[in-house]
Amino acid sequence: MTLTLAGTGLPAATRELILAPQTIKARFAGHDVSMLGFNGGLPGPEIRMRQGQTARITLDNRLEEGALVHWHGLRVPNRMDGVNVLTQDVVIPGDSYRYQFGVPDAGTYWYHSHYLSYDQVSRGLFGAFIVEEQNAPAVDHDIVVQFFDVLLDQSGQYDEGFNPAHFATEGRIGNTVTALVSNGTGKTVKRGDRLRLRLINPSIDRVYRVGLDGLTGKIVALDGMPLAHPRTLEPILLAPGQRCDVIGNATGPIRFDDSFGERTLSLGEIAVSGSREPAKVPITALPTNRMPAPQDPGQTAELVLQGGAGSASHNGTGTWALNDVSGLPRTPFLSVAQGTTARISIRNETGFPHVMHLHGHHFWELDAAGEAGPYRDSTYLDIGEVRDILVVLDNPGSWMLHCHMLSHQADGMATWIRVG
Ligand code: C2O
Ligand code: CU
Repeated sequence: MTLTLAGTGLPAATRELILAPQTIKARFAGHDVSMLGFNGGLPGPEIRMRQGQTARITLDNRLEEGALVHWHGLRVPNRMDGVNVLTQDVVIPGDSYRYQFGVPDAGTYWYHSHYLSYDQVSRGLFGAFIVEEQNAPAVDHDIVVQFFDVLLDQSGQYDEGFNPAHFATEGRIGNTVTALVSNGTGKTVKRGDRLRLRLINPSIDRVYRVGLDGLTGKIVALDGMPLAHPRTLEPILLAPGQRCDVIGNATGPIRFDDSFGERTLSLGEIAVSGSREPAKVPITALPTNRMPAPQDPGQTAELVLQGGAGSASHNGTGTWALNDVSGLPRTPFLSVAQGTTARISIRNETGFPHVMHLHGHHFWELDAAGEAGPYRDSTYLDIGEVRDILVVLDNPGSWMLHCHMLSHQADGMATWIRVG
């Protein structure tokens, strides 16, 4: 379901909509499962805007608990960021909150609950947020695919059981995995059609290595941001919160599989019917977004990921920590003047992988030689891995920096940065 963003009486550049979280029934593994959804759907409505427009989105809380929405990857003003305590108060049941922000950057983003998010996102409070380029590459289909897992109990309902081990290990991994596919055109894909696939991982803890069958093409963007040089299509590591855009020609049914674990798991497929001459237009880099240029780092910092099962830190309690602090610290991890370029070295000393997400900014992943790689908002660190990132902290406010495995965030792997 794509939401038509009605703009009656508003300047054409302004888009207005209501997002109402509520309890819903969704279909998983042949069961009608009680879940949560925005505007009655799981995923929530696909929000589509044109680069440069302004969004006015009212959160209308129809839950019996608090709610907040975070616009993951979008460079919004701090008070629009949707983070409890740090940027706003939680919206209580029956209340509403108006978010208003511009969308300067084209790309594939998403929105999700940021209140008790490990619980609310795993119950379905998320959706795609697409910002179309002013000069988008011509494609026959622009398809959003969200890989989502849910943990069902014996009776096929959302597993309400509480297992503390989930927090200290790889997290709460669902036993039912689906590719939620939405093709805005509503048309069937033909062999030879040019496709843009926007892959999103809204699962709270599960990492995928997404293999694609039935498509020849290139990876053109990561976490919404265009790659200067599109990459050869090969299995894509997609950690919680991450996105990837692929452009290519359909050669058959498009099949998605996951090879992250020991076994290959089928995630779903897009059917094709009929065929046509494949588009011969070469796949080139997407138009770039206008991003701040980095200076020589005026600030360096180290962030050490600690804790979890089997770790000796925190008396072996299994809780997660960043630089010896578990949970959001009273003072920021880093406090800098607006516009500072910072180089942060992130070291994973735990026995599990993590994916660190910074709000309000994108950053360059640096390789071992210090060369700038992809420009992302979430970086994956395998066990023992060290990664340096370079970020221009130009967006004033208080910004969360946390593991996007939401069980880990809930169990202490979160800190924040103050800018300006
Ligand atoms: Cu997508 Cu702090 O989150
Ligand atoms: Cu983590």
